[in-house]
Amino acid sequence: MAKLVRGFKDIIGAQAEILTELESSARKIFKLYGARELRIPTVELKELFVKSTGDSTDIVQKEMYAFEDGGGRTLALRPEGTPGAVRAYIENNFTQAAPVQQFFYIGNMFRAERPQAGRYREFEQIGAELLGNAAPAADAAAILMLADIMKEFGVRNYGVKINSLGCNDCRPAYRRDLINYLSSGKETLCEKCKDRLERNPLRVLDCKIDGPRFAAAAPAQKLCPACAEHFEEVQKLLRGKIDFEIDNSLVRGLDYYTRTVFEFRVGDAAQNAIAGGGRYDGLVKSMGGPDIPAVGWAMGAERAAAARAAAEPKKDFIVYVASMDKTCNEIAFNIMQALRGAGIAAQGGLFDKNIKAQMKQADKCGAAYAVIIGGDEFANNPAALKNLQPGEQKRIMQAALVETLKKI
Ligand code: HAM
Repeated sequence: MAKLVRGFKDIIGAQAEILTELESSARKIFKLYGARELRIPTVELKELFVKSTGDSTDIVQKEMYAFEDGGGRTLALRPEGTPGAVRAYIENNFTQAAPVQQFFYIGNMFRAERPQAGRYREFEQIGAELLGNAAPAADAAAILMLADIMKEFGVRNYGVKINSLGCNDCRPAYRRDLINYLSSGKETLCEKCKDRLERNPLRVLDCKIDGPRFAAAAPAQKLCPACAEHFEEVQKLLRGKIDFEIDNSLVRGLDYYTRTVFEFRVGDAAQNAIAGGGRYDGLVKSMGGPDIPAVGWAMGAERAAAARAAAEPKKDFIVYVASMDKTCNEIAFNIMQALRGAGIAAQGGLFDKNIKAQMKQADKCGAAYAVIIGGDEFANNPAALKNLQPGEQKRIMQAALVETLKKI
């Protein structure tokens, strides 16, 4: 039998609709902020990700779907959107003509991670990249844009963590302090962290095993005056607008970040980041462009959708129409059409089945109400209107059905 590849998924019906709804919410907010859409290829040269996402990251080390094409080039399915967005920004000459740009993208990303709940090998990201603005106002606007999308879409049960990673002036000293501190406990580090210690010591603080043991006593980040002022200003602009928490152990898993980093998280589960991002002032230059600052984020669409579904399991308002016997089929059918005509989602019409089978189907499709036509008093034109959750049933005249359901 044909089989789905492990770690990939089919997205069907309501699951697809909720993603479409999220995309619409995001598009509405992007418009308010003046962000323009960027559609970039799914495939880039592998080299692009090695150089930008970073060759010390888990993504590049072991999660990329890389392959050779017929022309002997090594390509990769994009594991994230930022490198392609920056490449497009440089290649399309925005850096010269119009360096201040706000882009957004919606697209599928690929990471060969170990599949588990909330972690897929193909997933959708909705992302924004604000290029050409070094001011703390850009960091704050990026974060608030993300919060506005969550609000518009209806995710409320999240927390925001922010941190500053400093810049090339102040980070090296911090890195050194951290390596010294962690080296004293080197033998007790997990295998991954032993390997990370020299390459990317900040990531040890982010490790699920070693992070909690080492984070509390870790040397504090010493920001240079310019970075400290920038971080303070970002906080000032956010205060009173959203709740956030400063978390010095927030380091993010990609190499290009400088200064502000942030994550939106739901609960304490392992895969709890619904979105993450930060400033990456050195990336445009390191990819061959001029020295242009930038800040951005990406949201995991499936995770954001799951966060909303978990908080408020919302059933679609569907009315199921059933007919008790053959003589009522036409009336039942007409009522079903009248409901649809009035803008109420109606399902049913399984009239060749008995009433028990029809009600079973009503349950299966998640209907909120059922309209049952027929039975003893059929001559007087009533219908039974059944609220399927508490299971209450009342009789109502057929002529009043549409208006009653509209009010509900
Ligand atoms: P990231 O933290 O690697 O950042 O990914 C952003 C979000 O994508 C995560 O918070 C998570 O919700 C979702 N995500 C990541 N991996 C998976 C997966 N395997 N399955 C499901 N969802 C996943 C970036 O990708 C950066 N490009 C963000 C950014 C943009 N920074 C600056 N600009």
